[in-house]
Amino acid sequence: MPELSPIDTAKFAAAREASQLVKSGMTVGLGTGSTAAWMVRCLGERVRNEGLKIRGVPTSTRTAKLAQDVGIEVLKLDEAGWLDLTIDGTDEYDPDLNLIKGAGGALLQEKIVATASNRMVVIADSSKTVAGLGAFPLSIEVIPFGLSLTKQLIEEMLSSLDVAGRTVSQRMVDGQPFVTDEGNQILDLHLRRIGKPHQLSLMLNQVPGVVENGLFLDICDTVFLGHEDGHVDVI
Ligand code: 5RP
Repeated sequence: MPELSPIDTAKFAAAREASQLVKSGMTVGLGTGSTAAWMVRCLGERVRNEGLKIRGVPTSTRTAKLAQDVGIEVLKLDEAGWLDLTIDGTDEYDPDLNLIKGAGGALLQEKIVATASNRMVVIADSSKTVAGLGAFPLSIEVIPFGLSLTKQLIEEMLSSLDVAGRTVSQRMVDGQPFVTDEGNQILDLHLRRIGKPHQLSLMLNQVPGVVENGLFLDICDTVFLGHEDGHVDVI
């Protein structure tokens, strides 16, 4: 393996350690993003070298392709039913292990899969540790129909809430709207500080046109925090 950058060393360390939680016979939710990709590679290595027998439920087309490439049997969530464990990355986690996720645009499948799991483990490097959520933009998956009106309704709603910033932008890639695996689009909320995440999450999901938001509250059980020296803290 080529020498890793300090940040990739931290991500890899967290991913490798968390992947040791997976035992033969388990059905495992496979997260999305660069840290989750390390975990999928680690599991693939165990499948090939140790004969680990698992079934994986990917949370995006990207992860599904990687999982297949490394030799993991891939199932859809409806085929798998309830999952033993999901391992995924995060954009932020706070001291209560509440999360902001969605920078990779896979928050909807990630939230459904994590919620359908006996245990959700997050793998992170120290840049993801925050005292309070909100410095990272909060992703909202919205249906394309009436998107500007949905954006306006969210902006109006934010003015009544305990947040520090109120800018809402549509996620674009190469000048085109970013499209999720479900054919939806993403609004990014630049809030800087989220005072009451549970209230915000409930209110966002009441806006017509909003499919799901990137706040993962009371879902994560454990964080594997990787450091640049390869050490991992379990929180
Ligand atoms: C994708 C996600 C990712 O897990 C999150 O953005 C972290 O990504 P990375 O491990 O690349 O920093 O929520 O929707």
